[in-house]
Amino acid sequence: MSEDSNDLRTASSITFDQATKMYPGQTDPALDALDLNVEAGELVCLVGPSGGGKTTALMLVNRLVELSSGDIRLGEKSIGSLNAIQLRREIGYVIQQTGLFPHMTIADNIGLVPQILGWKKASIRNRVHELLELVGLTPTDDIAKRYPGQLSGGQQQRVGIVRALAANPPVMLMDEPFGALDPITRAHVQDEFLALHNEIGKTTLFVTHDIDEAIKMSNRIAILKPGGKLAQFDTPDTVLSRPADDFVEQFVGEDRGLKRLSLIPVRKMLNPSTVVPSDKETASLSWPRIERDKSARTALSLVLAAETDGVVVTDGDDVPVGTVTLKELASIAGSGNDAVAGSTTP
Ligand SMILES: Nc1ncnc2c1ncn2[C@@H]1O[C@H](COP(=O)(O)OP(=O)(O)OP(=O)(O)O)[C@@H](O)[C@H]1O
Ligand SMILES: [Mg+2]
Repeated sequence: MSEDSNDLRTASSITFDQATKMYPGQTDPALDALDLNVEAGELVCLVGPSGGGKTTALMLVNRLVELSSGDIRLGEKSIGSLNAIQLRREIGYVIQQTGLFPHMTIADNIGLVPQILGWKKASIRNRVHELLELVGLTPTDDIAKRYPGQLSGGQQQRVGIVRALAANPPVMLMDEPFGALDPITRAHVQDEFLALHNEIGKTTLFVTHDIDEAIKMSNRIAILKPGGKLAQFDTPDTVLSRPADDFVEQFVGEDRGLKRLSLIPVRKMLNPSTVVPSDKETASLSWPRIERDKSARTALSLVLAAETDGVVVTDGDDVPVGTVTLKELASIAGSGNDAVAGSTTP
């Protein structure tokens, strides 16, 4: 980073402290006294209905919009005390539909902020190559020289993400970054981003209106209700099992029990005292077998398809390590229930 940077660390927490935004001429706030703490390295999804204040919350962080009252801190520093222009360069910002500049090549798009920061040409070129590789785009073919219109939608979104990462910002703000993708590409880019996040650990505030995306991506989910008020801020499992109010319950959907099952690998349902059935016993049970890292939702599908009372859980070598019954699956899907032995199993 350049010498006059705001000197934020590689991953920095984001703290909203009674953050409020009232747009001029409006009678109701777009964001109302938001208290939210995104820990350094954490990925928090901000979800809620259209007009709920999600984009406003992001734009307050990089001061594209100024607070009416309250404060936002990056680490210990109030954003009001930082240079706004520098702040924007030090925060990765991915907007919906990628926002790539159509008249600039992919290499120039990705290298834009490093260039503004005065990096040397060779460093920028290396960084562009490194980032393209990071998201599975081969830098040695002509992709870096192409224009955004010459890439597929999914490729453009990947470029949009790595462009935001280019100057190694401590914080990423992402506003519906995968919104324009078809479901298959979207799932693929989600997996890619999750792997990337696990590797680089940037503090990330990720806006989506898709609760399934939030459940899949988040360490914690913040749900805003109309009027820019925080309805709940908790882990995906808690939001699904104990929605704070009727609004959240409705927002997460009637199938929240099934969604919850999809979060739980079957190995977490194996009680330490589970008796491991012998091969002979599992054969006579004729229960379907499932590998222990698969989700409880997959286990339920197998049980229902085979019309059995449970599944045999196996390790990577197809050796049985225990069983999970239909009753146990149903009790978790029934929700509000912590029947998961997860904390004691690897
Ligand atoms: N510049 C502005 N002037 C006045 N009101 C605004 C302005 N920008 C946004 N608003 C209002 O603030 C509220 C929150 O808008 P915001 O864009 O933050 O919502 P959002 O949750 O991102 O919605 P969406 O899911 O549709 O993107 C809305 O009622 C919107 O009309
Ligand atoms: Mg928005």
